[in-house]
Amino acid sequence: MPPIHPDTLRGQRALVTGANSGIGAAVARALAQAGARVAINYVVNPEAAEQLVREIRAEGGEAMALEADVSDEGQVQRMFQNMIDAWSGIDILVANAGLQRDAPFHEMTLAQWNKVLEVNLTGQFLCAREAVRAFLRQGINPKLSCAAGKIICMSSVHDIVPWAGHVNYATSKGGVLMFLKSLAQEVAEHRIRVNGISPGAIRTPINRSAWETAEAEADLLTLIPYGRIGEPMDIGRAAVWLASDASDYVTGTTLYVDGGMTLYPGFREGG
Ligand code: BGC
Repeated sequence: MPPIHPDTLRGQRALVTGANSGIGAAVARALAQAGARVAINYVVNPEAAEQLVREIRAEGGEAMALEADVSDEGQVQRMFQNMIDAWSGIDILVANAGLQRDAPFHEMTLAQWNKVLEVNLTGQFLCAREAVRAFLRQGINPKLSCAAGKIICMSSVHDIVPWAGHVNYATSKGGVLMFLKSLAQEVAEHRIRVNGISPGAIRTPINRSAWETAEAEADLLTLIPYGRIGEPMDIGRAAVWLASDASDYVTGTTLYVDGGMTLYPGFREGG
């Protein structure tokens, strides 16, 4: 893989939610490699967030950890205030925090349903709203970017691929898809870009059971035409592009980074 160019996001200030593990951590690393200052949001496991901050600093980057539950309005507002106090603004939001609470539908509790919707969908609303407010206040700084701000919503292939046993999760991601398009339409005139990334099966703790044994991995690979499980940096690189001026004319779109998972692999034979 060619290295990420350190001037790509030089001087820009990014907030990545759920950045202390999995895809969020890789996105934070990638943005830092691209020259951005990165705020690492977390809600549990502060040690992992601090460790990532140290790693980014050790590589010459700038980072800080910020605690907040993205589904809590007051905590989200305080997090944005802390970031803006520290770095005088924000240029990039990656609304990444998300979780699964899987259950067969007839056994799914209201608590499981609500938790997934609150974190995966309401969390994106609360964070994106604070980001848009900040972008509108700041306006465009042509030294940093052509846009007044960029929002990247982390979605999933399950924003279009139905998923039995995960109805709450797929519903939340379907919501993210329409959320980001409607928001993109609304704020485009202010030169605020809103896009989504829909990862397929990426090797992270959220889907460990799908790849940790050879048998599970072989099963999973039948769903991935490209023939490998995704790595977190596959998503990190996509995020750098969507956050940078290289994608300046791209808004309201979703980039499927999935090794072809959404290409109906069941139709390779038959049909
Ligand atoms: C889910 C993973 C799953 C992947 C592909 C993701 O959104 O979080 O658990 O492996 O979609 O099905």
